Amino acid sequence: MRREKWTLQNMPDLTGKTFIVTGANSGIGFEATKAFAMNNAKVIMGCRNLERAQAAKDKILAEFKNADLDIILLNLMSFDSIETFANEVNAKYSKLDVLLNNAGIMSVPYGPTENGLEKQIGVNHFGHYYLTMSLLPLLNKTTDSRIVNIASIAHRFGKLEPNSFMYEESRKYNKSYAYAQSKLANLLFTYGLKSRLEEIGSNILVLAAHPGITRTNLGNHLRTFRRKPISFILDSFNQKTPKGALSGIRASVDKNVKSGEYYGPHFLWNAKGYPIVEESTKLSHSKDLQDILWNYSVKITDLDINL
Ligand SMILES: NC(=O)c1ccc[n+]([C@@H]2O[C@H](COP(=O)([O-])OP(=O)(O)OC[C@H]3O[C@@H](n4cnc5c(N)ncnc54)[C@H](OP(=O)(O)O)[C@@H]3O)[C@@H](O)[C@H]2O)c1
Repeated sequence: MRREKWTLQNMPDLTGKTFIVTGANSGIGFEATKAFAMNNAKVIMGCRNLERAQAAKDKILAEFKNADLDIILLNLMSFDSIETFANEVNAKYSKLDVLLNNAGIMSVPYGPTENGLEKQIGVNHFGHYYLTMSLLPLLNKTTDSRIVNIASIAHRFGKLEPNSFMYEESRKYNKSYAYAQSKLANLLFTYGLKSRLEEIGSNILVLAAHPGITRTNLGNHLRTFRRKPISFILDSFNQKTPKGALSGIRASVDKNVKSGEYYGPHFLWNAKGYPIVEESTKLSHSKDLQDILWNYSVKITDLDINL
C-alpha cells in the first residue's frame, strides 16, 4: 500500500485535457472542479440547478480568472436529461479525458426517479451508468482517458438486492440501507466495467475513490434532531472539503494509478487523511453481483458497451 502524502502540489499540468464533473457545484465536486480548472483543464460542470452551478462557477472565476468552465444541465434522476446532456457533450467536444461520476444523494426519504427507480440507487448508480454508457465512445477515442466513480465507506454495510431497486411505497424502505446499497453498486460497477473494457481491448481506465467523512451538504436534508448526534460524532472524525476531495482528484489525475484501484483517506479507518490505495469489501469484488447489477442496468437503461 502506497502511503505517501499526496496533495494538490502533486497534480500534473492539465492543459489540453477535458473533464466532466457531475455535481460540480457543491462539496467534493466543487473542490475537484476548482482543482482541475486551476491546473488548466477545461471542466464541464454537470449540475441539476443552473443558478447553483453559475454561483459555483463565479466563485472559481473570482479565485482564478482563467478557469475554463462550461455548465451543462444534468439531472441524474431523469434518463431524458442525461441523454440531452450527453448529446450536447458529444456534439460540442471531440475528446473527453476524465469522467468524474461524483454527484450523489444520501439517506433521502423514499421516492422514485422519473424512471421509477428508488432515488438513491437511481441517482448514485443508474444515472451514472446511463451517463457513462452514453459517453464511452468519446472516452474510448481519447488517449489515456479514465472514469472515476465516487463511492463511500458506507459500501461496507451494503448488500445488493435487485428487488429493492424499484421499491414500492408499501415495501419497507430503509434509507440508510438504500444509500449503502447504492455505494456498493458504485464499486460493483467500477470493477465490472473495468473487466468488460479490458476484455474488448479498450484502454479506458476505471477507478473508484471515496472522501472518508467530509464536511459537505450531503446530510443537509437530515432533520436537526437526527443531525445533532451525528454531527457530534462526525465533527471528531471528519475533514474539511478540500482534503476530502483529494481521493477523487488523485484517482482522476495521478499518472501512476492502475485501472481497478480504489482511493481513500489513509487515517482513522479511512475516515480522513491523504489518499492512498485501499481495499473495498469482498462483496464488491463478487463477479456474480457485478453481473447481476450489470444485467439489470442494461435492462433498465437499454444501454450496454457499444464503442
Ligand atoms: N461527504 C462525505 O462525507 C461523503 C462520504 C462518502 C461518500 N460521499 C460521496 O461524495 C459524493 C459527493 O457528495 P458531497 O459530499 O460532495 O455532497 P454535496 O455537497 O451534497 O454534493 C452533491 C452534489 O450532487 C448533486 N446532485 C444531487 N442529486 C443530483 C441529481 N439528481 N442530478 C445531478 N446532480 C445531483 C448536488 O446538486 P445540488 O447542489 O443541486 O443538490 C451536488 O452538486 C457523493 O457521491 C457522496 O455519496 C461523500
